[in-house]
Amino acid sequence: MTLLQRLIEQAKKPSGIVGSLMLRIMNKAHSGMNTWLMRHEVIKDGDTVLDIGCGGGSTLRFLSQMNPSGKIYGIDFSEQSVHESIKTNETDVANGKVIVTQASVSDIPHDDKFFDTITAFQTHYFWPDLANDVIEVFRVLKYGGKFIIISEVYKINYHMKAYKTKPEIKQLFESVGFQTVTIRENTQKGWLCITGIK
Ligand SMILES: C[S@@+](CC[C@H](N)C(=O)[O-])C[C@H]1O[C@@H](n2cnc3c(N)ncnc32)[C@H](O)[C@@H]1O
Repeated sequence: MTLLQRLIEQAKKPSGIVGSLMLRIMNKAHSGMNTWLMRHEVIKDGDTVLDIGCGGGSTLRFLSQMNPSGKIYGIDFSEQSVHESIKTNETDVANGKVIVTQASVSDIPHDDKFFDTITAFQTHYFWPDLANDVIEVFRVLKYGGKFIIISEVYKINYHMKAYKTKPEIKQLFESVGFQTVTIRENTQKGWLCITGIK
């Protein structure tokens, strides 16, 4: 396996010391996406929020700060990511405001219509079956709830075979049942934000 392939594997499912280091780097490198989210998508105080592929946990911390009386859940299928997310959110985890669980997006361990808002940053291009995984996200989202994906465009182009283009992803969201689908691009940073309202 080449060095690039190893790094991609670590980004897809971080593990061990290298994974831990990468998660800390990603916590810093992806922080601008949180600010961008804040500018465009309002998360209401008191919302029940899920961050999928929570990685090093910086988005969970940001969501918790934005939402002082809400509850923030994180899932990630990597044991290392769950460990780092818990460490990053130590106080909120201890007081029960932030809850992090090891789980895959393909089988979210929550009841139907549980969440007001669901976020997924720099992760959807790794999911095993995007069409079915979006159906699973839709299942746990309340009516009127929002699903927000943010990813770098070049990573979407590199990793994905299907649902790469804006019309394709919009069509997927609409076919699953999202009522309103908005796609925004930050051309300066090369970021894409896809929002679906159920
Ligand atoms: C590139 S990291 C991004 C982490 C974090 N969201 C961020 O923006 O810094 C991708 C994360 O998605 C997680 N992930 C990938 N596939 C997943 C899946 N099928 N279910 C749950 N988590 C997944 C990985 O374990 C990893 O922690």
